[in-house]
Amino acid sequence: MTSPSAAFPVADAETAARTALYGPEFAADPYRVYEGLRAYGPVAPVEIAPGVGALLVTDHRAALDLLRDPETWSKDPRRWQETVPADAPVLPALGWRPDALANDGTAHRRYRRVVTDSFALVPPHELREHTRQVAEQLIARFAGNGRADLVAEYASRLPVLLLNRLLGAPEEQSDRLAAAFSGMLAAATAEESVAAKALFFGYVDELIALGGLRGGPDLTSRFVDHPARLTHEELQAQIVLTVTMGHTATANLIGNALARMLSDDRYYGSLSGGGLTARDALHDVLHNDPPLANLSPHFARHDTDLHGTPVRAGQLVLVSYAAANTQRGRTRPGESGGAGGSGGGAHLAWAAGPHACPVQNPALLVATTAIERLTAWLSDIELTVPHPELAWRQGPFHRALVELPARFSPITPAEAGVPRPLG
Ligand code: HEM
Repeated sequence: MTSPSAAFPVADAETAARTALYGPEFAADPYRVYEGLRAYGPVAPVEIAPGVGALLVTDHRAALDLLRDPETWSKDPRRWQETVPADAPVLPALGWRPDALANDGTAHRRYRRVVTDSFALVPPHELREHTRQVAEQLIARFAGNGRADLVAEYASRLPVLLLNRLLGAPEEQSDRLAAAFSGMLAAATAEESVAAKALFFGYVDELIALGGLRGGPDLTSRFVDHPARLTHEELQAQIVLTVTMGHTATANLIGNALARMLSDDRYYGSLSGGGLTARDALHDVLHNDPPLANLSPHFARHDTDLHGTPVRAGQLVLVSYAAANTQRGRTRPGESGGAGGSGGGAHLAWAAGPHACPVQNPALLVATTAIERLTAWLSDIELTVPHPELAWRQGPFHRALVELPARFSPITPAEAGVPRPLG
């Protein structure tokens, strides 16, 4: 830990003025908010829901020091959660569950192994082929229309369909999974939220029952058969984590990368060879618009300080991957990559340390394939709303587009199922 610096106001999450990371103002321009928070130094006081304070790490070095120090920082929220109102809207995301994300040490390693061992058994060529099939199934639904919302009809639809397949559920169940997800996102009342959650857990329980019988090559069967011998509740939690992380973060990654790509002429060049590629757009987004903007909740095991900011035992500290990545500048769509641009360098979009995303390569493969299939089929897509005017979802954790309206030359029914050649 570095010593406190007198140059900055103290970032005390309980007493200092807290900056809201929710609401329309933050959603419209979070990067302006992060710049303002830098006045506090590496760690700033924020509010993640009305009345729920946290400390936010905006500095790359401080973020790494936190993420790599499980001796000082726990991922177990149970002590903290007793201090938060039971109906706080952030509790479903941050509350304790028997899963990899919310546990430390041996329990964490046991849960994480189930996920990593099971994904390791999915060969990349099979993952690519499943993604291709799902992508083309979706594109065929809107290709004849000449316009589409590439978030609702593609980016956020594709991961659900793909995960449903990987988990071994029958194809017709994917609509149920998608409905549960959009229900959870759109729930305006506690009753709606409970109903959407019940739908989701019903789906997960049926999967577990199927996986228990089948012993097949799908992820659910691998979770069920794993030598860790997870209990039913633990199985539920690992599947829920896989589906929620896999769906939301991958949907945001594809959506944000498409938005950048379709706002930048250098990518059109790539369709005829020589320009920037889907991979470039994904790396650009991982630096400049990370799909999960602020997460990695950690709780101080004892009173401590983080790069000069006092932190009390049990206090919530979040890492702003978005702020840390863009500390030395942010590349906007259409600009050449600078310090924070697509030209490389370390970013924290997957977090770091023992809880870093265990599925980085598969997730990148899925996102790359999804973007390549779309641009191979429809080679003249244009956004109908310019990038600076796109609307972003509210909330502290995600960087997610509300919609991505686009137009393109429709493909006639005769062409459906036949991707256009590149170039
Ligand atoms: C198929 C897709 C994905 C799956 C199944 C998946 C799964 C997971 C799991 C199981 C964890 C918990 C690891 C642990 O605590 O040890 C995790 C963490 C994480 N994932 Fe992924 N992930 C996926 C895609 C992504 C994408 C696209 C991103 C964004 C670029 C992402 C970013 C992260 C981050 C930042 C964490 C750390 C979160 C925290 O500690 O709060 N993931 N992921």
